[in-house]
Amino acid sequence: MTSDAKPTAKIQLPEMELECPIVVGTENEKSIDIRALRAQSGYITLDDGYGNTGACESKITYIDGEKGILRYRGYSIEDLAEHSTFVETALLLIYGELPTKETLSGFRKLLTDHEMLHEGLHNMYDGFPAEGHPMAILSAMINACSCYHPDIMVMEDETTFMAAAARLMSKVRTIAAAAYKTSVGQPHIYPSPNLSYCRNFLHMMFSIPFREFDPDPDVVSALRLFLILHADHEQNCSTSTVRMVASSQANLFASCAAGVCALWGPLHGGANMAVIKMLHELNESQIDLVKFMEGVKRKEFRLMGFGHRVYKNYDPRARILKKAVDKVIRKANIHDPFLDIARKLEEVALEDPYFIERKLYPNVDFYSGILLRTLGIPLNMFTVMFAIGRMPGWIAHWKEVQESDSRIHRPRQVYTGYVQREYIPCEKRGIEWNVGS
Ligand code: SDX
Repeated sequence: MTSDAKPTAKIQLPEMELECPIVVGTENEKSIDIRALRAQSGYITLDDGYGNTGACESKITYIDGEKGILRYRGYSIEDLAEHSTFVETALLLIYGELPTKETLSGFRKLLTDHEMLHEGLHNMYDGFPAEGHPMAILSAMINACSCYHPDIMVMEDETTFMAAAARLMSKVRTIAAAAYKTSVGQPHIYPSPNLSYCRNFLHMMFSIPFREFDPDPDVVSALRLFLILHADHEQNCSTSTVRMVASSQANLFASCAAGVCALWGPLHGGANMAVIKMLHELNESQIDLVKFMEGVKRKEFRLMGFGHRVYKNYDPRARILKKAVDKVIRKANIHDPFLDIARKLEEVALEDPYFIERKLYPNVDFYSGILLRTLGIPLNMFTVMFAIGRMPGWIAHWKEVQESDSRIHRPRQVYTGYVQREYIPCEKRGIEWNVGS
């Protein structure tokens, strides 16, 4: 291979040898470009769960799972967690640069302008039962929002996109808080144009008529941190869902409503609720935690909040959340037995060969639920909180799909069902009917 020749991968098939281009990312990630594979050889690849498959090229978020590195548009999660705000981080993810003062104030104004829900949408909550799951309500109401804003159906220019992005990011708080208020039988609290993104959400969640909720600044800061840490995570299940739906040129709200549904699963965003349910059961049963971990190793149950498809090291978000939990709990001078249990489980796991060999470490969900508990967020709202945090990431990926020359996502399959067979007439199967019935 001459020095200027681009590297290729040779694939030796029974029938032929193929050469496929090698694509190397800016962080030196190497990939084999197989886009011509089927046309040239008739072969496809098979990769259940996509653990070895790059679905796209993306400039938004970088993860090094072996080293436990996470960066949004090149900025480390540690720096953003310490120095940034959620709205600034959202603009960074969506537009690729830390915003100027003008961009930030302009977007903040859009968030304020679009924080209300149409009264027709508020009326829709009358149809939800109090025990309706807020993730179902969230996905339904995001889609319902688009019925009141037909302009978001066709993103003609940057201005309409930015307005739609602000609408979605702003209203997702109002929708979530209204779902909570419906579940507790309290009146919906309207957003206040004078409050920051996080404070406004807490206001809509916990204020009641004639008594405004006035949270401790540490609570607001902890919510800021939670949302920043959840803002994006490259091609995870729900973001890949958003990109899949976006690839059909479905509108932003429909794509993100689909992301909410994918996030709901206990193996994904639903894990933060599953962790607390696990800690609750362990606390109630007072089971010996070492014995419990033996049960995990026998695969009788999963250690929720542990393990990750990409991180084979400590999830950097979990490390940051663990420190935040310690700080908030120490400041509030409270004792949460769930935290003691979580710490013990982590201690046992980090020293046990079963977990070490499988590279199972705490992930973002292991401590996030404990933090949400200290903020007073009810358990069934935990995954909704994850969705509020992830919204800018979904919006950024939707935009990236629209701006790319991405084709509609349509994976192939290896068919392993019946080969062709003849129809068996119903009378031969003892069924009396005629084809017109
Ligand atoms: C999120 O993708 C993302 O980026 C997601 C996310 C994001 O920000 O978007 O980071 C958010 O979803 C975090 C993950 C939250 N989920 C959980 O905490 C649920 C518990 N964890 C798992 O079920 C699991 O670890 C996954 C789903 C996270 C990853 O699953 P994989 O990569 O498919 O791994 P696997 O199921 O094939 O497990 C590999 C081995 C198996 O053992 P062996 O068959 O090799 O003997 O590890 C074991 C598994 O049994 N294992 C676990 C375990 N997770 C994996 N054993 C006990 N407890 C666990 N939690």
